Amino acid sequence: PVKCCINPSILSADFVNLETELARISNADAVHVDVMDNHFVPNLTIGLPVVERLQKVSPIPLDAHLMISNVDRWAPQFADAGLASVTFHVEAAEAPIKLARELRARGAKAGMALRPATPVEPYLDMLPELDMLLIMTVEPGFGGQAFLDVVLPKIRRARAAVDGSGVSVAIQVDGGITEATIARAAEAGANVFVAGSAVYGKPSPADAIDSLRANGTL
Ligand code: DX5
Ligand code: ZN
Repeated sequence: PVKCCINPSILSADFVNLETELARISNADAVHVDVMDNHFVPNLTIGLPVVERLQKVSPIPLDAHLMISNVDRWAPQFADAGLASVTFHVEAAEAPIKLARELRARGAKAGMALRPATPVEPYLDMLPELDMLLIMTVEPGFGGQAFLDVVLPKIRRARAAVDGSGVSVAIQVDGGITEATIARAAEAGANVFVAGSAVYGKPSPADAIDSLRANGTL
């Protein structure tokens, strides 16, 4: 079976008890950290100082999702903090190829995110520069939104391009991933799944991770 990574989003966790909240998802593959600036998206979360502390205490790798403007300036600092993976939005990047290279040079995996209406085709030549492509399955900004099935064909085309080019690029989906929707995203070709409310909204986040992983494994 294709390996299925579950990255819970701490956006749905208790922000005043983040270290405890990390301990509740110790069976996750990584923790997804949503950074928002109230400019690229209409919401505000946490910034570099908090993420640096999370990096120091987290037992599992950190996967940052930067929903911020001026990302060419900020993203390298998240890589310098030691994060396993740093994802920027292509809509916010001035020089995405340069930025992806900077992230890798600083030892982080380079991720690039696309909003639901952003086509993947203009960026297919960039795949060798990336370790991960994040295809948003909701408009970024808030947890708890409904999965957008309209994005499924884009996931399929991205999967075909990745497989066809022979590069090793993960395809992450983020937004509305639940026990009900994860199989559709997996079938379309995603292999890394972010889930906020479907993990932290459950009495046992660890059980929720196991059940998502079972449903998302092809
Ligand atoms: C939304 C964030 C997501 C969010 C997902 O902009 O990027 O990571 O936490 O939350 P759910 O899984 O509840 O849709
Ligand atoms: Zn996210």
